[in-house]
Amino acid sequence: MKIILMLISILSMNSLTTGQTGIFYPFGSDAGDVNNIGIEDENSTYVGLLSPFVFFGRMYHQIYINSNGHLTFNNPSSVFIPNSLPSNGSEDVIAALWTDIDISQNGNISYQEYTTGSVLTQATQDINQYFPDLSFTATCVFVVTWDKVAYFYHTGTETSFQVVLISDGNLSFLLINYGDIAVSPNLVQGGYDTINSTHYFLIPESNNGSSISNLKYSSNVNVPGRWVFRVDGKADQNRETVIGLQMRVISYSDLAEIENIAYVMEKIKQELVHQGLPSNVELNLRRVEKIKP
Ligand SMILES: *[C@@H]1O[C@H](CO)[C@@H](O)[C@H](O)[C@H]1NC(C)=O
Ligand SMILES: *[C@@H]1O[C@H](CO)[C@@H](O)[C@H](O)[C@H]1NC(C)=O
Ligand SMILES: *[C@@H]1O[C@H](CO)[C@@H](O)[C@H](O)[C@H]1NC(C)=O
Ligand SMILES: *[C@@H]1O[C@H](CO)[C@@H](O)[C@H](O)[C@H]1NC(C)=O
Ligand SMILES: *[C@@H]1O[C@H](CO)[C@@H](O)[C@H](O)[C@H]1NC(C)=O
Ligand SMILES: *[C@@H]1O[C@H](CO)[C@@H](O)[C@H](O)[C@H]1NC(C)=O
Repeated sequence: MKIILMLISILSMNSLTTGQTGIFYPFGSDAGDVNNIGIEDENSTYVGLLSPFVFFGRMYHQIYINSNGHLTFNNPSSVFIPNSLPSNGSEDVIAALWTDIDISQNGNISYQEYTTGSVLTQATQDINQYFPDLSFTATCVFVVTWDKVAYFYHTGTETSFQVVLISDGNLSFLLINYGDIAVSPNLVQGGYDTINSTHYFLIPESNNGSSISNLKYSSNVNVPGRWVFRVDGKADQNRETVIGLQMRVISYSDLAEIENIAYVMEKIKQELVHQGLPSNVELNLRRVEKIKP
């Protein structure tokens, strides 16, 4: 894959300041979910998938919903102290909010797999918006929701988040929605990791229990609370991606300043994450000067 960096000019970077409710896909008993799975602490629920899900080259026909905020494919997990991502482990893991969760007094975990209906339409629209050149049509959507769950031990706090796996049998996407997230004294991690950590992503600030409430405002797709990743691992290695950057530079030598480098690297990282983290990247810099901003 090639990345062309366009320095357009001047202006400060956007920041997301407002949270948004209503980004969740339908869930709960109203949506017809299989509800209240894992009432006991440290439960895992096996789900046989109607349509296989490709995760970085491995095709899975089943998934485990682990009550402690994460999904695995090969084995159930009762691990309540999350691995630090990347963990170079032996399991593929989707860690929406992997932490010690206890729903024995409040909170519901529910799921549903869709192969027809309006949820497919919603997923198709979302993916085409975030990945406009793929002409994607979802054929299967798997939604798991942790609704108003408490942390261990009966904290009484209410934390809500959701994982949505979207697939056409070929391409696959991971969408994570964060709602109200209570601060937690427990260790926590959000993102995903693969066997041997060939591909992984740690969502910024998701590993700090004191600041995880901010996840509601964070995004890589400009939708506060929502993170979206292509996860089939087949991102086209030869595609050319143009990233426009707007930044205030007096001269191009300013680019060597540490905060500018950090900003450029963050933009490149976001694009790579968006594309499914290809392993080879060629970077070209194209200057576009704006004489009078
Ligand atoms: C929780 O896990 C235990 C042990 O695996 C199992 O017996 C029980 O049925 C599970 N409960 C729920 C509600 O899934
Ligand atoms: C990852 O684990 C393997 C053993 O499974 C080891 O050989 C390798 O050095 C580890 N890599 C890193 C980066 O820790
Ligand atoms: C959780 O599920 C129970 C039983 O289905 C239901 O009565 C309750 O309203 C649900 N709680 C929430 C917050 O949806
Ligand atoms: C999957 O991708 C391959 C290669 O791009 C293509 O030939 C095939 O038709 C696709 N299959 C489906 C079900 O979209
Ligand atoms: C992970 O790394 C180990 C040790 O290097 C290797 O034996 C194994 O084949 C790797 N697994 C995968 C799926 O790449
Ligand atoms: C965790 O977040 C809190 C609150 O935002 C902050 O004060 C603290 O420095 C953070 N800790 C780490 C290790 O980043």
